[in-house]
Amino acid sequence: MKQDLLTFKDWSSEALTDLLALAAKIKAAPEQHNQVLAGKSIAALFEKPSLRTRVSFDIGINKLGGHMVYLDSQAGKLAGREDAKDTAANLACWADAIVARVYSHDTLVQFSQAAKVPVINALCDLYHPCQAVADYLTLQETYGSLDKLTLAYVGDGNNVTHSLLIVGAILGVNVVSVTPEGYEVDQSIFELSQKIAQKTGAKITQSSDVNAAKGANVLYADTWLSMGDETPLEDIKRIFDPYKVDEAMMALTGAEYVMHCQPAHRDLEISGDLIDSDKSLLMQQAENRMHGQNAILVTLLT
Ligand code: CP
Ligand code: NVA
Repeated sequence: MKQDLLTFKDWSSEALTDLLALAAKIKAAPEQHNQVLAGKSIAALFEKPSLRTRVSFDIGINKLGGHMVYLDSQAGKLAGREDAKDTAANLACWADAIVARVYSHDTLVQFSQAAKVPVINALCDLYHPCQAVADYLTLQETYGSLDKLTLAYVGDGNNVTHSLLIVGAILGVNVVSVTPEGYEVDQSIFELSQKIAQKTGAKITQSSDVNAAKGANVLYADTWLSMGDETPLEDIKRIFDPYKVDEAMMALTGAEYVMHCQPAHRDLEISGDLIDSDKSLLMQQAENRMHGQNAILVTLLT
């Protein structure tokens, strides 16, 4: 039976640990994996803009011996021309997998039901699973192990936060989500992460107080306005300003490193100086997008 990756919520600790190990293996010896997707074609459909996800999938698939077709659907939503399920069923006639960045998670569910090939979530309103794989791979490389680590996400509770919470819980990493009141993560996803964490021993917590990030190893920032959010920046700047990740926040919390999924907005959610500092893991995260996704493709397609 085909396996999709819409979210990691049903994955076991063993399966996720194996995925990270495979990503590290492919990264260490790419020449040993350069034919694993030979003859395979992947359709990648984007309803929203992308730099990292689009390019890392395209180049990554190429490095595995496969081929990617990019479908730009940004000019209009899929529903504009034909039903999402018909788009997916058609793509599955030719492609061996579908990678999709969409507005609504429901579109991915429809893709999954209609397509006879694996569907991979390249970001939706609720999750960004490929990002979380790259991020935990980066932490594993940086610390040698994920044991006893604490990650503090600071900013808007969003798709990236949700995936960090779920994957952190599964891997046994403590995650604290620090968000302004009214900008918390989806509470059903938070509760699910806490439930998963009961089995793995991770501590999953949330707060609107930045002091809750004290003692974290790493601070994680993301944009205050996710793609598709039309709220004027001026309306939220005042609310989010205390949550800016900068040198003062690093000093307050004692964190050793800073992460950001990017695109980053210098001197808004994160200071430019911090991005350019030796505390920054941003480019390691970006590089690991490709290795993490390659491991996902190999796991689902071979
Ligand atoms: N982090 C991330 O997904 O970047 P893009 O939006 O550029 O793909
Ligand atoms: N939360 C951001 C992530 C971008 C990679 C967004 O959805 O726009």
